[in-house]
Amino acid sequence: MQDEIVKLLKKENKISDETINEIKNFDVNDFSNVVKELGKEDTEYIKQSEITEGLDTSYIGKELYIYKEVSSTNTVAKFLSRHGVENGTVIISEKQTKAKGRSGKSWESPLGGVWLSIILNPNVDHSRLPLITLSTGVAVAKTLERIGVDNPEIKWPNDIMINGKKVCGILTEAVAKFNTIENVIVGVGIDANLEVNDFPKELQDGTTTLKKELGREGNENLLIKIFLEEFEKIAKIFYEKDYELILKEWRKRSYTIGKIVEVREPFNTYYDAYVVGIGKEGALIVEKIDGSLEKVISGECIIKN
Ligand code: BTN
Repeated sequence: MQDEIVKLLKKENKISDETINEIKNFDVNDFSNVVKELGKEDTEYIKQSEITEGLDTSYIGKELYIYKEVSSTNTVAKFLSRHGVENGTVIISEKQTKAKGRSGKSWESPLGGVWLSIILNPNVDHSRLPLITLSTGVAVAKTLERIGVDNPEIKWPNDIMINGKKVCGILTEAVAKFNTIENVIVGVGIDANLEVNDFPKELQDGTTTLKKELGREGNENLLIKIFLEEFEKIAKIFYEKDYELILKEWRKRSYTIGKIVEVREPFNTYYDAYVVGIGKEGALIVEKIDGSLEKVISGECIIKN
C-alpha cells in the first residue's frame, strides 16, 4: 500500500521526491490520511459534485474518494475500511492497474469504465454474502434499465449481460477479524464509455460496453449516481431481510435459469446440468444428467445453449 501511495503521489506530481521519502517514514494512520486527502479532488472525468448533487441516498456515497489511478478500488476500500470511514463510503477510480476479478482472475480497467467499490458495515454472517452480490447485480441491472438499456440480464452469480455479452462484473469481498465480518467491500466494474477493442483480443468476443449498446457515450457521473441510489434501495430490502423480494427481482432478469450449463465449482470436477432456479441463500439449483438436484454455492457456469 505504501508504495502504491508513493506512486500515486508521484504521478499526480503533487510533491517532491524529498517529501516522498519523508512520507515513506509515516506510520499507517498518516498514510490513510494521505490516501483520503488524495481522493478529495475531482479527476478529469469523475466529478464529486455531479455525483452528489441531488443524490437520493441517506448513507451510500455520502463519503466519496475519487482517484485517477489505483491498483484496485477494492484494495483501497479494504485499506480505508480499517481507517475510520463511514458505512457506505465509495471509492472510485478512472483506471485500475491491478484490478481483481472473481476466482483470482484479473480485471481489465481502462480509462472510460466505471470502477468503484462500496464499503459496508453490514453486521452479517458469511452465509449472507452471496445475497449481497445478487442484490448488487439487481441494482446494476436496474441502473442500466434507468439509462435506457433494453433487457439487461444477470448471469449467475454476478455478471451483467446485454445481448448475451458481459458489460459488468461484481466482486464482493469480506474484511473479517477472526470469524466476524467487520466490513464488506462491494466492487463493481461497468464497461461504460469504452469500445470493445479497448479490451484484449481474447476478451472481445464475450464483452460489450454501454457505449456500443446505446450507440452513444454516456455521463459516467450520472451512471454512478443512479447506481448508488439503486444500491441503497436494494440494500434496504436486504437489511429488512426480504430476501424473497431480492430473489424475485433477480429471477426476473436471470440469464441463467432454464439453460444447460457447464458447472465449474472450485476444487471440483466440471459437469453439465440444467439450471432449475435459485435458492433462498443465493445458490444456483441445477439438475444433473442423472436427474439429481445439486446446489451450487460458488463457482462459475458456462452457458451451453
Ligand atoms: C468479475 O470477475 O466479474 C468481477 C469483476 C469486478 C471488477 C471490479 S472493478 C471495481 C472493483 N475493484 C476491483 O479490483 N475489482 C472490482
